[in-house]
Amino acid sequence: MEALIKKALKRSEKKGDIKMVKWQINYERCIHCRRCITACLAGVFQEKDGQVFLNKEMVCIDCLHCAAACPEEAVTFAKENGSNKTVFSHDAFEEESSLSKVKFRSIETHLVNRRSYRNFQSAAVPREEIEYALDIASWAPSAKNEHPARWMVLEGREKLDRIMEHIISYVRETGISPEIDRLYQRGKNIVMGKAETIIIGYADTSATNPCIDTVLGLYSAELVLQSRGIGTCWSGYLIDMCNDVPVIRDMLKIPQGNKVYGVLLVGYTEDEEYVNVPNRLKRAEIEWI
Ligand SMILES: Cc1cc2nc3c(=O)[nH]c(=O)nc-3n(C[C@H](O)[C@H](O)[C@H](O)COP(=O)(O)O)c2cc1C
Ligand code: SF4
Ligand code: SF4
Repeated sequence: MEALIKKALKRSEKKGDIKMVKWQINYERCIHCRRCITACLAGVFQEKDGQVFLNKEMVCIDCLHCAAACPEEAVTFAKENGSNKTVFSHDAFEEESSLSKVKFRSIETHLVNRRSYRNFQSAAVPREEIEYALDIASWAPSAKNEHPARWMVLEGREKLDRIMEHIISYVRETGISPEIDRLYQRGKNIVMGKAETIIIGYADTSATNPCIDTVLGLYSAELVLQSRGIGTCWSGYLIDMCNDVPVIRDMLKIPQGNKVYGVLLVGYTEDEEYVNVPNRLKRAEIEWI
């Protein structure tokens, strides 16, 4: 257990680099609709005396959902990636992209419009939708065509609340990822959002390439689900917790010699709509040799 904690702490230290909030609110444009507050999982956007403001003491994860959600383009960032654009309108992305000479096909449009959703309705996603998406995932590429990934689907608030309780106890006891508890106290769940359905992808570690194979399959399923109007979000925190917290591993009955490589939150979205395509802070860096 101690070795596990050490490993996890090391990883969370590595991951925990504090990031400066780079955004600004243009108050001449802001209409106080509060969409950025809902969209910001990290609690950076807050409200005081009817005014939206940036709490720069919170840790921003650079997702740019604030800018994607703002209907007035009032959230802007200073140049970071060689472009001064914070967002593209959905329609304008094709023309404004540096790839404007390339005719976009529907796949590109779908790829740039995919978003991570974390606010979900309590209405369950029909099992057939998930089965369909995971079945299509069988066509993802896989080393030696092994397709080692196995899928487990967790359904229902009660079960997920129980897992969340174990996670909160674990982070309090170990001091690992303290931001999980901090945000949880503020009503933000960075591990599960408001999901009532979660897909877990795991595989035998002795497969040729279990991590990449699982991720490719789950990403394929994510794209299928979003194309069918179902919101999704990856949960790296839950991947770690499934692997590192013995009581959760036991609850889920992850077989010996297997590891969880992908976790996807799934649900019909609520109060979460993105009207823009956020620019990326990092765009392709390519070396031609
Ligand atoms: C491997 C991986 C792990 C992630 N883990 C989490 C997580 O634990 N919690 C969360 O809310 N979002 C998580 N995300 C979502 C990212 O924060 C999100 O993809 C990123 O901010 C960009 O936003 P977008 O997906 O809407 O473009 C994860 C994404 C990936 C690919
Ligand atoms: S980039 Fe994401 S985490 Fe950072 S302030 Fe915007 S919505 Fe919040
Ligand atoms: S989403 Fe935009 S317009 Fe709405 S409150 Fe936030 S900054 Fe202001």
